[in-house]
Amino acid sequence: MTEYHDPYQRSGRYLDIMIAGWWEHHGATVAEALRELPAGPVVDAGAGGGHGTRLIARTLPDTPILAVEPSPVLSAVLLSRVADDPDLRPRVTVHGDDLLAARLPERIGGMIMSNLIGHFSPHERDRLWEDLAPRLAPGAFVLVNLPPPTEPAHVERAAMSEIHVGDRTYLGWAAAEPAGDERLSWHMTYETREGDRVVSTDDVHYDWWTVSEDSLRAETAPHRLTVVPHGPAEAGLYKILRES
Ligand SMILES: C[S@@+](CC[C@H](N)C(=O)[O-])C[C@H]1O[C@@H](n2cnc3c(N)ncnc32)[C@H](O)[C@@H]1O
Repeated sequence: MTEYHDPYQRSGRYLDIMIAGWWEHHGATVAEALRELPAGPVVDAGAGGGHGTRLIARTLPDTPILAVEPSPVLSAVLLSRVADDPDLRPRVTVHGDDLLAARLPERIGGMIMSNLIGHFSPHERDRLWEDLAPRLAPGAFVLVNLPPPTEPAHVERAAMSEIHVGDRTYLGWAAAEPAGDERLSWHMTYETREGDRVVSTDDVHYDWWTVSEDSLRAETAPHRLTVVPHGPAEAGLYKILRES
């Protein structure tokens, strides 16, 4: 097994606060899909600090949840969020594994892969679909989003978030360049300011595999999985279900 390289080693401290906006915007659409899931444990794959885990718990109050998060910094945020909440604590299990190596239940009621798919190469995704297809209970699905751009493209540097906590402001910018077939290189800048003073700046690069709706359909079909869009197109959400 290859050693897991954590792309969030430096940026993980900002990820949880900066991704909260995505959940504010799309949480209701995700919850709508969750309500359609059959009984059974739900996996939050690449759970980050647990915004999705918390949404699963609120939406499905009796469901056991497995939250898989390999980044040590994000896994620490997740574990604290779970341990602090009397509802989450008895029914959320946190695994610090790479999803490709995680020990998943034989049968699952569903899985969320939010803002995650670009971390897996085509070959790794093929392994994932192969592994997940037989685990899906009847009616269960993997809910995945395909963040734009879904093909390699230049993305102009733009502000992505500005969060105020106490006297400090946490700012994030993102830009991207094509980095080969189905590949992007993201350039993120995270800045902490106190008044006019820049307290710290972190520049982080990471690679991301682009996945389009067509390629998702093509790569899941051999595993007898079918892809169904969910919610407004701008959410980029898809259910991946077993063919009936
Ligand atoms: C952009 S964050 C999204 C976090 C969370 N799903 C959300 O939407 O708030 C991507 C997450 O995927 C995790 N991740 C990356 N590679 C992974 C892998 N091979 N297995 C499981 N999780 C992975 C990262 O550690 C990170 O927490």
